Amino acid sequence: PVVARPRLTVIGTGYLGATHAVCMAAVGYEVLGVDVDPNKIAKLAAGEVPFFEPGLGELLRDTLATGRLSFTTDFAEAAEFGDVHFICVGTPQKKGSQAADVSYVHAATEALAKGLRRKALIVGKSTVPIGTAAQLRDMVHAVAPAGTAVELAWNPEFLREGYAVADTLQPDRLVFGTESRWATEQLKAAFTPVLERGTPLVECDLSTAELVKVAANSFLATKISYINAMAEVCEATGADVNLLSRALSYDERIGGRFLKPGLGFGGGCLPKDIRAFAARAEELGVGQAVSFLHQVDAINGRRRTRTVDLVRELAGGSLQGVKVAALGAAFKPNSDDIRDAPALDVARMLHEEGADVRVYDPEAMDNARRAYPDLTYAGSLPEAVAGADVVVLLTEWAQFRDADPEMMGWLVGRRKVVDGRHALDADAYRAAGWEYRALGRPT
Ligand code: UGA
Repeated sequence: PVVARPRLTVIGTGYLGATHAVCMAAVGYEVLGVDVDPNKIAKLAAGEVPFFEPGLGELLRDTLATGRLSFTTDFAEAAEFGDVHFICVGTPQKKGSQAADVSYVHAATEALAKGLRRKALIVGKSTVPIGTAAQLRDMVHAVAPAGTAVELAWNPEFLREGYAVADTLQPDRLVFGTESRWATEQLKAAFTPVLERGTPLVECDLSTAELVKVAANSFLATKISYINAMAEVCEATGADVNLLSRALSYDERIGGRFLKPGLGFGGGCLPKDIRAFAARAEELGVGQAVSFLHQVDAINGRRRTRTVDLVRELAGGSLQGVKVAALGAAFKPNSDDIRDAPALDVARMLHEEGADVRVYDPEAMDNARRAYPDLTYAGSLPEAVAGADVVVLLTEWAQFRDADPEMMGWLVGRRKVVDGRHALDADAYRAAGWEYRALGRPT
């Protein structure tokens, strides 16, 4: 049987929305991308992705050519066009608070709902505090001309930056939080090609769907902080956290993914999500249940200050006037995203202690310069390390991992390296005469 394919709109064309719009159009849906930012819309319509994401640009240009994908800033046009509307706008951390700011989600949903004159489904994808979906549903029923004929559903997104296309088209699972059979069927029709691959589907209520997302990110953050907490113990005992992590990983119940010790997690999701979750749990009266998330956050923060300590130690006790090559600015490799980037936080702290810091990142330079204009930037890896007293690896880009310790040695002033990501070949560096240090590893 031929299933009628709903027409989709995607409201918010950041990482999540742009990827979702492009991927859904690529697998055959008619899709309209919507954003309040006319510059973003103009770029996307011209086949240009406004951020760094491997493979997305090519896919955007190919799908634009099919005529199935278009972009607008007009919410009324979107309301007219779509059967299923995905809300993909950001929920950043509120200024001066740990909580998430849901004002963009509210504004976008309201602007859309005002134009909805027939039965339609609004699907939230943004990461939100539990209870937001129910509030949005009530608001939509009040402002949409079609009233309660407009339904609300939640479909959390688990994509990782750097793997956004693959994670969207081949996700580990789909989660549909709905309040009716009709809404579930609409969502199934909006994900037919993904479901046909045999992707596991969890059908649930709105709150469970909201919770799945923050619970998943909290688990991942906890796993990283767990191994970093073990690194602290290793530092006090002379044990090696890399070997510890490897030994733990063979236990299939533990598993090796997200058990990589080092500078810890950053980015636009994990740090803000655990804080927002803890804040929301507090409001719900169950703060105690997730109070460990405060520890997860604190352990993560200590990795940054400990990395600065290690650079200071290697430099001989003071950072004043010490030339430091800071390799990396993005919060992880294959991304130009610098939101809550551990790398730039460390570079900033080194700079504030008087070090002469030179930062280099293969993709995140423009973003870093804008956010941290006081730091000095190099145009290449050799330029960054030239004459350095200490090299500190902060983001494990392949070009840093693959750099030849011998060649690097000719460029630097002194052969001293802090491996903030446990990404370099310690033996090769030591063999080339480097003093190699990494958190949680014996000297
Ligand atoms: C994360 C989740 O992995 C996604 O599933 C989720 O959809 C996304 O947040 C989101 O909420 O939108 P992302 O922020 O792209 O994805 O980055 P990750 O690949 O998860 O890395 C997060 C941070 O953890 C990075 O700074 C990375 O360097 C660090 N990390 C990761 C470690 O320090 N150790 C590890 O073993 C793994």
